Amino acid sequence: MNVLLLGSGGREHALAWKLAQSPLMGAFFALPGNPGIASLATCLTGVPLEDHDAIVTLCLSEKIDLVVVGPEAPLVDGIADRLMSEGIAVFGPRRVAAQLEGSKLFTKELCKAHAIPTAAFGRFTGVEEARAFVQHHGAPIVLKADGLMAGKGVIVAMTLEEALAGIDEVFAMGGIGTEILIEEFLEGEEVSFFCLVDGETVLPFGSAQDHKRAFDNDEGPNTGGMGAYSPAPVFTAEMERRTLHDIVKPTARALADAASPFRGVLFAGLMITREGPKLIEYNVRFGDPECQVLMMRMEGDLLPLLAAVATGRLEDQPVPLKPDAAISVVMATRGYPGPYGKGSQIGGLEAAETIPGVKVFHAGTRREGDDILAHGGRVLTVTALGGNVAEARERAYDAIARIDWPEGFCRRDIAWRALDA
Ligand code: AMP
Ligand code: GLY
Repeated sequence: MNVLLLGSGGREHALAWKLAQSPLMGAFFALPGNPGIASLATCLTGVPLEDHDAIVTLCLSEKIDLVVVGPEAPLVDGIADRLMSEGIAVFGPRRVAAQLEGSKLFTKELCKAHAIPTAAFGRFTGVEEARAFVQHHGAPIVLKADGLMAGKGVIVAMTLEEALAGIDEVFAMGGIGTEILIEEFLEGEEVSFFCLVDGETVLPFGSAQDHKRAFDNDEGPNTGGMGAYSPAPVFTAEMERRTLHDIVKPTARALADAASPFRGVLFAGLMITREGPKLIEYNVRFGDPECQVLMMRMEGDLLPLLAAVATGRLEDQPVPLKPDAAISVVMATRGYPGPYGKGSQIGGLEAAETIPGVKVFHAGTRREGDDILAHGGRVLTVTALGGNVAEARERAYDAIARIDWPEGFCRRDIAWRALDA
């Protein structure tokens, strides 16, 4: 099977690593890929992910059997619709179903219509009504701009003053004519839960927790994710059962009934509250760095599973996961998520991978001759498997100690919740 993988991050390197192990793999291409992916697939350049015509041409000339889409933006832009109209199989939902991530209002209305547990909410186009609602409900309260905001666009206001001040800010983030959501604050522990979905067949692909704040003790600004581990102890078998029954399956059914079946991976961001799991948000792709830990734990062949999702032939068999724990620690350039420099040299990558169970996935790197240079904010995800979280974590940090990159930093406390539990 000839495969084209779209994307360039740590998530895509992990997908490429797992896919490349498949005996079914034929020619393997990545667009644009990264220096880590380059050792597994042919990385193509010169075609932006926004250029759907060029991607179709590429698929036809390279006889691609399956396109695997890593990031959300091309899906929200309709890449799956375009590929499917050309008869090319694609792992990732069509535009309408991708609204689950592309529009928070779409998801909230779907939840409301199908009694899916989520935070109560109001929607507003005017500042005055929004202020009156916040005054009435008090704090803590959550303000959100609609649309694909790349992890921004959400203010969790702990006081009434913060909430009132935040209203103008979220309207501004959403742009002119935007609608904002104001939500009940959910209290509990957050979990990421992944399911392969082919219309109505829903296969759980494990849980993970990520760490969104930049610094130890969950302090500092929000980031795309500084580390993750899987499984998440708070997500018990009972929580998984309830989430499937109350949240994920009704969502898949609602979309299938509306003639826009979801095909791809559905990433449910959940709050485990005292009343049980509630949906915070959906994403229509694997998480980054959650994907890295899931790929480390997955047993067996990923490629036929993704192909089955793409062609609507997913069988109702659990995705085989190792009982081991996996952890990934992001190494980022100093300054991230604010301004940071590029071009610093990274050494010790091979030495790091000699530790048993360790894989270093590239995210924001660039190759220059024999050198690997930092080329982004999140640069590496050092990922390790172990018999339990403590062992996996020790391996990951031992690997990090072998990486020679003074301009990089990482959190030292990834998976603290699982260790304290
Ligand atoms: P989102 O972009 O919707 O994932 O929101 C970003 C982060 O804000 C989430 O990961 C949560 O930590 C927090 N958050 C979002 N909605 C709520 C809510 N209703 N209650 C509490 N925290 C929330
Ligand atoms: N790590 C969170 C995300 O990928 O959205």
